[in-house]
Amino acid sequence: MRMPLIAGNWKMHLTLHEAVELAKAVAAAAEQYSDREVLLYPTFLQFTRVQEAVSGTKVLLGAQNCSAEKDGAFTGEISAAQLRDAGAQYVLIGHSERRHILGEKDDFLKKKIDRVLEQNLKPMLCVGETLSEREAGRAKEVVLNQLLAALQHLHENEWRQITIAYEPVWAIGTGKNATPEDAQRMHSTIRSKISALCPSVAHTVRILYGGSVKPDNIAALMAMPDIDGVLVGGASLKAESFIAILRDAVV
Ligand code: PGA
Repeated sequence: MRMPLIAGNWKMHLTLHEAVELAKAVAAAAEQYSDREVLLYPTFLQFTRVQEAVSGTKVLLGAQNCSAEKDGAFTGEISAAQLRDAGAQYVLIGHSERRHILGEKDDFLKKKIDRVLEQNLKPMLCVGETLSEREAGRAKEVVLNQLLAALQHLHENEWRQITIAYEPVWAIGTGKNATPEDAQRMHSTIRSKISALCPSVAHTVRILYGGSVKPDNIAALMAMPDIDGVLVGGASLKAESFIAILRDAVV
C-alpha cells in the first residue's frame, strides 16, 4: 500500500510572512490525516522560517531545486548537503519550468539525482510531455526517455528513495488537467517501466500527478489505482484550496 502524498510547489510566489502563515495553516490541518503525507516546497529564501513554523508537525519539506555539483565555487547555487543541513527531506528535480525555461537537460538532471541521493534525501523527479509532443503521439516515448535518462542507473536501495511526478506540460498552470483516465494510463506506463528496471520497487514507488490539480478534480484523480498523490502549484498557494485538496485526497 502506497501512502498518498500531497505536495505543494510554491514556485517563486509568496512573501516570507505569507509563506509562514500558509505553512502553519497547512500544518494545523494536516494533523487530522494520519493516512496521507503532506509536503511543501517553499523557496530557498523562505525555507528556514517555514521549517521552524512546521517543526514538530507532520508536514514534510522539500527544496524546489539543487545544484548538480557537490560543493565549491558555484555562485548562486545551493548544494544538496546544504539542503539536508537546513532540514529538507525532498528535492524536486526536473520540473518542466526548469527543463523548458531554464534549459536543464537530462544529463544535468541525472547528476542532480545523484547529488540528492548522496545526501540521503529523496528526489522527486518530474517528467512530462509538451502539447506538441502529445499531439505528435510521442507522449509515452518522451516521458519514458526522461525517466530512463535520470534513473535507469540506480540501484534498488536508491530506487526506494525515488518519487515520480508526472506533469504534462500543457496542463501546468493552464487550468486544463489531464483526464484522470489519461493520467492513469501514463502512470501505469511509468510503473511498468519501473517494473522492468527494478521489479522489487515497482509497487512501492509513488507516482504523483501534477497539472491544474484543484479541489474539484482531486477526488477523481485519487480514485485512479496508479495515482499516489498530487503535486499542486497554483492551488497550493491558498490555505483554503490546498487544505480542501488534502481533505478530499482519499484513496
Ligand atoms: P499547477 O502547477 O498546479 O499550477 O498547474 C503544478 C506544478 O507546476 O507543479
